[in-house]
Amino acid sequence: MTSPGVAWPRRAGVLELRTPTRELLEEVLVWRNRPEVVRWLLRTTVDPETFIRVWLEDVGEPDHHTAVAVLDGTVVGTGSLRVHDGIGQFDGDAWRRSEAELGYLIAPAYAGKGYATAIARTLLELAFDELGLHRVTAGCFADNVASWRVMERLGMRREQHGVRDSWHAELGWVDGVTYAILAEEWATAK
Ligand SMILES: CC(C)(COP(=O)(O)OP(=O)(O)OC[C@H]1O[C@@H](n2cnc3c(N)ncnc32)[C@H](O)[C@@H]1OP(=O)(O)O)[C@@H](O)C(=O)NCCC(=O)NCCS
Repeated sequence: MTSPGVAWPRRAGVLELRTPTRELLEEVLVWRNRPEVVRWLLRTTVDPETFIRVWLEDVGEPDHHTAVAVLDGTVVGTGSLRVHDGIGQFDGDAWRRSEAELGYLIAPAYAGKGYATAIARTLLELAFDELGLHRVTAGCFADNVASWRVMERLGMRREQHGVRDSWHAELGWVDGVTYAILAEEWATAK
């Protein structure tokens, strides 16, 4: 089952974003636990069967939009957009399911080719142009420059620089950054 009204596959530049299947996720697992991939992730090394189960469960979640990125038959990345409530007073409900959190991963052999930017752009189009969301956010460790460059390339604003607010297993307490973009900013930026 996929979310009502959200059609897959869809293009992300030269990539095709497809609904996750066990076969595609097994290909993700070929590189998902490599040191250069997990270095800046919060969910570092994953148990393969748990990873597959959680991603397949997400496919049935109406507010979780997840995809595997394929280039000429090869799995090169993943992307996710998880819709959640924003902040708001209980009089009225404009804030309910008004925001989403964006995520992306690229296979090390395919890094630096603009693929994360392409995946994120397609997910922002989905968020604003199709789902009509108000705001999209994403966060990463401050030293994960490649990740926040993706966000800045797409017009996302750095909203928070958290000083030593994030725990890293090797480095201890390090800085984290949070980015956001509003629907009206996306309309100007795209
Ligand atoms: C971070 C990641 C998603 C970037 O994906 P990507 O496809 O390589 O990114 P893009 O090619 O779209 O490039 C985005 C920017 O990062 C820059 N970049 C790429 N690799 C870099 C590196 N090792 N160091 C610094 N900048 C880097 C690019 O030059 C580009 O910046 P620019 O606009 O200044 O030219 C990918 O490397 C990855 O999945 N890493 C491991 C997992 C991870 O950290 N995911 C994000 C968790 S928040």
